[in-house]
Amino acid sequence: MSATPEKLVEMRDVKLQFADKVILNGVNFSIQSQEILVIMGLSGGGKSTLLSILMGLLKPNAGSVLFKEEDLGKLSRPKLNEVRAHIGMVYQNAALISSMNARENISLPLKELSDKNDKEIDAIVDQKLELVGLKDARDKLPSELSGGMQKRVGLARALALEPELVLFDEPTAGLDPINGKLIDDLIVQLRDKQKVTAIVVTHEMDSAFAVATRMAFLHEGKIILEGTPEEFRHSDNPIVSKFLSSYSDHEHTKE
Ligand SMILES: Nc1ncnc2c1ncn2[C@@H]1O[C@H](COP(=O)(O)OP(=O)(O)OP(=O)(O)O)[C@@H](O)[C@H]1O
Ligand SMILES: [Mg+2]
Repeated sequence: MSATPEKLVEMRDVKLQFADKVILNGVNFSIQSQEILVIMGLSGGGKSTLLSILMGLLKPNAGSVLFKEEDLGKLSRPKLNEVRAHIGMVYQNAALISSMNARENISLPLKELSDKNDKEIDAIVDQKLELVGLKDARDKLPSELSGGMQKRVGLARALALEPELVLFDEPTAGLDPINGKLIDDLIVQLRDKQKVTAIVVTHEMDSAFAVATRMAFLHEGKIILEGTPEEFRHSDNPIVSKFLSSYSDHEHTKE
């Protein structure tokens, strides 16, 4: 009703600790529809934890998470599942079920959360497999797929329910440059063609700058910088600029 763009997701002063170890110490940010927010930060800094909280899989110790203005912490279990059906998650380690082939893994959310029949489900599975370039892997078990292929099956599964928001945890890590680019292009294409909003956690700087409309840097439990890719490139924040330059040094010394 208002002219301001809708906030799809918002974290307000989120705190999380495991035992006495503080991981998130007051995280604030929001995302509008069709943004691609890239989250960066040091390993172990809490990025995957933050995504789990957004999915409603982990409950913060304090603060709130809002999806379309609804506070996830205040929703009943069925309501929370309804919200979750609008959020797809591509896990860092693919997280496929090892006894199920690619087709069965991808059809799982459709069987659990939609009323589609087997024929419709089959068609969606094929379409998603094609989208991630894995048509031939349909009947393969995760153990018969490479790490990168497993990741793409995980992506196909995350997209099965046509989510509005997709959370990507290191989507291109471990992929060769061609398949990495395929995933980057897919993220941008999902936004342009299907109006998907995305949060991408990544260590791959080429990928980060290829997809981001906005960036955020998580450090010692807080977002210490948030801005456009251009602002990140030129940031004089010592931690951020050191992080970015060590990645570009690494790129140069890799040859
Ligand atoms: N279920 C858990 N129980 C206890 N500690 C946990 C749990 N999950 C994560 N942690 C700890 O929380 C911290 C943040 O972990 P997290 O996986 O969110 O980091 P990350 O930023 O995603 O790191 P990476 O870049 O290596 O993936 C780490 O110290 C980790 O050991
Ligand atoms: Mg992680």
